[in-house]
Amino acid sequence: VPDFNNPTGALIATDQRSAVLQAARRSGTRVVVDESFIDLDLRTEAEQAAAGTPNPMAALDSHVLSLGSVSKPIWGGVRVGWVRADEDLINQLAVVRARSDMSGSVLDQLLTLHALGEGGALLARRRDQLRLQRDALLAALAEQLPQWQPGNPAGGLSTWVRLDAAACTELTHAAQRHGVLITPGSRFANSSSLERYLRLPYTLPAEVLVEAVGRLARAWQQRAPGSRPAASIPT
Ligand SMILES: Cc1ncc(COP(=O)(O)O)c(C=O)c1O
Repeated sequence: VPDFNNPTGALIATDQRSAVLQAARRSGTRVVVDESFIDLDLRTEAEQAAAGTPNPMAALDSHVLSLGSVSKPIWGGVRVGWVRADEDLINQLAVVRARSDMSGSVLDQLLTLHALGEGGALLARRRDQLRLQRDALLAALAEQLPQWQPGNPAGGLSTWVRLDAAACTELTHAAQRHGVLITPGSRFANSSSLERYLRLPYTLPAEVLVEAVGRLARAWQQRAPGSRPAASIPT
């Protein structure tokens, strides 16, 4: 996920993309690139002009398989994705797909067609909304949890936060008792190495995010080592 990675929000530079592709070529590995977040570039035009926009991986290597989902830039309820690869591979994938499933939901496809027909306007509105929400979340964190170190993501849907203690699992359980459902950083690793990190999405309205940060601050104070999740989630 080189473009506004989930969970970190990172945008990988062209030279690092080339390095990954070279390593993959050396080991005979096909690279699958997930571009689900590529349209959620939240940088201003000036920021984009200053830092540049990296080349798509497929532009660097024609063997790359690129895929994406409408669920991230538009709405999680629209279950339509896409794959781009060389013609032979696409034909093979089409055969596999037809064996398991004749077609995606027609309603979802019609919604996607409508969204495409809007050109960039829909995406521009979505990016404006996400910028406001991201900034509200970062401002609330700076005020209420200044000891945490959130990233300032250039795009995507979440910020990756470094906590001042390796306790994201305890926090997740405490937050649940305050009615806030979050995913601990450790969920994104196959070991406990990310216990000090937390993914915080900014997909909710700004006022809800501000309230959630207040609850997280209380949960962080009250977290108990070794705590378990509440049996039911308070509303
Ligand atoms: C990088 C990435 N790709 C794809 C998906 C899932 O896409 P879909 O909603 O189409 O199943 C996710 C979900 O979080 C994701 O993080």
